[in-house]
Amino acid sequence: MANGHEKIETNIGLMMTLILIVVAIGGLVQIVPLFFMQSTTQPVEGLKPYPALQLAGRDVYVREGCYLCHSQMIRPFRAETERYGHYSVAGEFVYDRPFQWGSKRTGPDLHRVGGRYSDDWHYVHLMNPRDVVPESVMPNYPTLAETDIDGALVQKKMQVLKDWFKHPYTDDEIAKSAEAVAGKTEMDALIAYLQNLGTAIKTVR
Ligand code: HEC
Repeated sequence: MANGHEKIETNIGLMMTLILIVVAIGGLVQIVPLFFMQSTTQPVEGLKPYPALQLAGRDVYVREGCYLCHSQMIRPFRAETERYGHYSVAGEFVYDRPFQWGSKRTGPDLHRVGGRYSDDWHYVHLMNPRDVVPESVMPNYPTLAETDIDGALVQKKMQVLKDWFKHPYTDDEIAKSAEAVAGKTEMDALIAYLQNLGTAIKTVR
């Protein structure tokens, strides 16, 4: 008489179903607790939702595909923390939708680039990276300096982030957001975003 084991091993449909159930349980055991852990769901102290200009800059970053060459996730290894600063923690990304961790580093990780260079350096670098780093393979982004930010759109985005994702914007911040980006270019916005990156956790470099 066939025992249970043999029944499973000789019935591929049954085996696949059972494997699926076991793998699903294994997955749930790993994933579900993360939704309830403070360290993965709560913002780190001092983290604020992106102000209007930085929020607009973040969208430029996503649109231009900067993540294709730059990660924003410092791993907890000596070689990384020596170079970039404190390793990234989950609570730093709660207002990032979608997060920009990235998986490819053609250029350096940018998670703690905030404050590392001056605004002027970023401007020159984004206009033509080779003006400051001769061997750079990063593309030029001169059109960003010619394109204005749409204030009404930024305002709408902040409202959606507040209503749907509970980002703690005040009504006053939203009301003044269009004004905050008036006359600013995509270049200004992107630089404001870069200068804030990773600054919620203070690091000594
Ligand atoms: C084709 C790949 C590529 C793309 C796309 C790219 N970069 Fe870079 N980036 C690099 C490389 C390589 C470097 C290192 C050389 C240099 O500094 O230019 C770099 C360096 C940088 C630095 C300096 C980092 C440091 O710590 O010195 C910043 C800031 C930066 N990139 C921002 C951006 C932004 C913002 C975008 C999108 C608008 C972008 N990059 C798109 C490849 C890329």
